[in-house]
Amino acid sequence: MADKQATLTVDGKSYDFPVLEGSVGPDVIDIRKLYGQSHMFTYDPGFTSTGSCESSLTYIDGEEGVLLHRGYPIGQLAEHSSFMETAYLLLNGELPNQGELDTFTRTISRHTMLHEQLATFYRGFRRDAHPMAIMCGVVGALSAFYHDSTDIADPEHRKISSHRLIAKMPTIAAMAYKYSVGQPFVYPDNTLSYTGNFLRMTFGVPAEEYEVIPAVEKAMDRIFILHADHEQNASTSTVRLAGSSGANPFACIAAGIACLWGPAHGGANEAALNMLQEIGTPDRIPHFIERAKDKNDPFRLMGFGHRVYKNYDPRATVMQKTVREVFDALKVTDPIFETALRLEELALHDDYFVEKKLFPNVDFYSGIILSAIGFPTTMFTALFALARTVGWVAQWNEMISDPGQKIGRPRQLYTGPTQRDYVPVAKR
Ligand code: ACO
Repeated sequence: MADKQATLTVDGKSYDFPVLEGSVGPDVIDIRKLYGQSHMFTYDPGFTSTGSCESSLTYIDGEEGVLLHRGYPIGQLAEHSSFMETAYLLLNGELPNQGELDTFTRTISRHTMLHEQLATFYRGFRRDAHPMAIMCGVVGALSAFYHDSTDIADPEHRKISSHRLIAKMPTIAAMAYKYSVGQPFVYPDNTLSYTGNFLRMTFGVPAEEYEVIPAVEKAMDRIFILHADHEQNASTSTVRLAGSSGANPFACIAAGIACLWGPAHGGANEAALNMLQEIGTPDRIPHFIERAKDKNDPFRLMGFGHRVYKNYDPRATVMQKTVREVFDALKVTDPIFETALRLEELALHDDYFVEKKLFPNVDFYSGIILSAIGFPTTMFTALFALARTVGWVAQWNEMISDPGQKIGRPRQLYTGPTQRDYVPVAKR
């Protein structure tokens, strides 16, 4: 029996529900027995007040701008950790010692190759296909190639398929890019780091030796850390919902990729850079701010606002710093960065954005960095998918291991016609 109880009174009848406490963050009212007792559902489209699961992976305090993975602040992980170490942490719950990290990194690198027949899949796509269209298709198709790891009841199978997904995503994403520019696929080089290997597979060509620039490798790795997991966001919830039916992990991650593609979610980094390019110079910013505030104009400031953060997204802080590091390393500048800084400054002093607590999110600056590194905008969301695969598989594993897990099956408030008799077409 929980210490705290919540009481719901409807038409003079009261129903008691336990209030569950997490280790930190808001308590939740456990309404699982509501329907059985009262014949009523709760109504929460968009899940703004609904906890869908118990999780020990990631904690966000949106009011304070806090993001913790297994308790560690994202700023510390971005500064001191690596993507492989963060992946280990998310999957296993603790930071690895050196031996554990080496073994994990070696295991992932041993799974980086794709079944050779998968290369023929790419040739079925148009050359101008969006990389996310290719990612959805190829990742879903992995289930047809790796039958030996799809028994989700077997923890060893789950582990192998999780490792395969994390390891193969860079290869899949790089091949999507290579296909779009008409260059030959570059096979993985397991002597390089996870991120260095990805950069080489993307930008290297067989005719020349590719040299990984350490500062770019570090920045890219940090971007991967910043995108690794983010609690029960739309794509993660999609992965969990797909997985709740017992679907295989490759199919579940393909579902997550599909959800991530949308401009309100992972597609926002692409949309943010397109927007900054459309704005162009700082003198045009006020016009776009006015448009964003106009209720009759569908235009929104992309890279601004967040369902959970009502404060500065802690990932955006790291991103802004990383822009400068990449510019210094590559000895480039981009006037778009000045436009972005000025836009942020003006928006943060504008009553509309202040009152609605709209701050830059992770996507606001990431496009500028990715563009400086050489990625076309269409690849941005694919990179997000690559990194988020770690969170998706960690959350999926957590859900499958939970003995209380049930198929996800929301209910509804039905507003359609009540029962009526069929009318033959001649009488309508
Ligand atoms: N520009 C202008 N106005 C905005 C913006 C924005 N970027 N974001 C929210 N608002 C306004 C809305 O019009 C709304 O105003 P209203 O209360 O007068 O109707 C209010 O702020 C609340 O917005 P909602 O859309 O209801 O908030 P919600 O939590 O559902 O949406 C979302 C969050 C989708 C991220 C939204 O802020 C948005 O569309 N931002 C731009 C897209 C973006 O950057 N997405 C990336 C999110 S981070 C990620 O996925 C990694």
